[in-house]
Amino acid sequence: MDITNLIDEALEKISRASAPDILESVRIEYLGRNGQITKLLRSIGSLPSDQRSEAGQEANAAREKVEAALTEQFSRIAHQPKKSKIDTTLPGIRPLRGAFHPVRQVIQDARAVFRRLGFEFVEGREVETEFHNFTALNIPLDHPSRDAFDTFYTKGKNLLRSQTSTVQIRVMETRKPPLRIIAPGRVYRPDTVDASHSFMFHQIEGLLVDDRSTFSDLKGVINLFLRQFFGKNVKSRFRPHFFPFTEPSVEVDMSCILCGGKGCMTCKRTGWLEIMGAGMVDPAVFQSVGYPSGKYRGFAFGMGVERIAMLRHGIQDIRLFYENDLNFLRQFS
Ligand code: DAH
Repeated sequence: MDITNLIDEALEKISRASAPDILESVRIEYLGRNGQITKLLRSIGSLPSDQRSEAGQEANAAREKVEAALTEQFSRIAHQPKKSKIDTTLPGIRPLRGAFHPVRQVIQDARAVFRRLGFEFVEGREVETEFHNFTALNIPLDHPSRDAFDTFYTKGKNLLRSQTSTVQIRVMETRKPPLRIIAPGRVYRPDTVDASHSFMFHQIEGLLVDDRSTFSDLKGVINLFLRQFFGKNVKSRFRPHFFPFTEPSVEVDMSCILCGGKGCMTCKRTGWLEIMGAGMVDPAVFQSVGYPSGKYRGFAFGMGVERIAMLRHGIQDIRLFYENDLNFLRQFS
């Protein structure tokens, strides 16, 4: 091959060598022991003496050119910063976004509905006295719910509240009507844990006290809540019941939100779901907080939060709420 072509070819390969090992193989190809330029230099001795000097100069010049190009290319690629390992074409990693627990979501949504009805949010305490949990709520001393099998007692005759109705007493003890309060929170009962029972769960308590409210106001407020919370087609039904702290007392059913009232597994084919207890505040309760007799009237209601969350999302097992399993919880974010 013509020496000029040989040089061009070598320089071309050198300029394209992007890594030191590629460059080294190019060097060997031309300047190694059997390299093309090495062979050229070696062949000079066998040339006729009048050609040796010119051919020698040409071959040496070629070697110098190629060596210089190798050195230059080496320093260029050796000092190049390493190619970044970050692939900017990959999709990003979404940061985990926190969300409220489904139990908390029910509480917040219910609070929002009652806020629009003028109800004020209050909190009670979880460790309570027998007076606030039972006596002031007109629950007699021999009532089974006072039994140690049905209530957690602490040292010193206190207890973990078994219902949020305690907050009615706490508020009325310190304030005068008119009152409109909503009080969500934890309650405790020594129940054996299964798919529908837990030793701790949440309730939402409501209380309205003024000097004129009637049972139809209670119905109006509860119907409004049910329709705003579950949808405008929800129907309600008020069944007579008994609670020591209300008279008259009712249990409120709403038409089944899963089957629309036709009857399904969740509503046990009745078309109705029991959703809360309610009633007109018993005069004995007003008396125990020191309100003058006959002056005030009011109504109260209480509902289970987990039960509502389970109906809302079709959850079959209450224990799922307490296991902190992110695969479960992420469904509600
Ligand atoms: N405290 C009752 C319970 O835990 C629920 C309840 C019923 C609350 C009637 C009320 C009410 O305020 O009026 O079963």
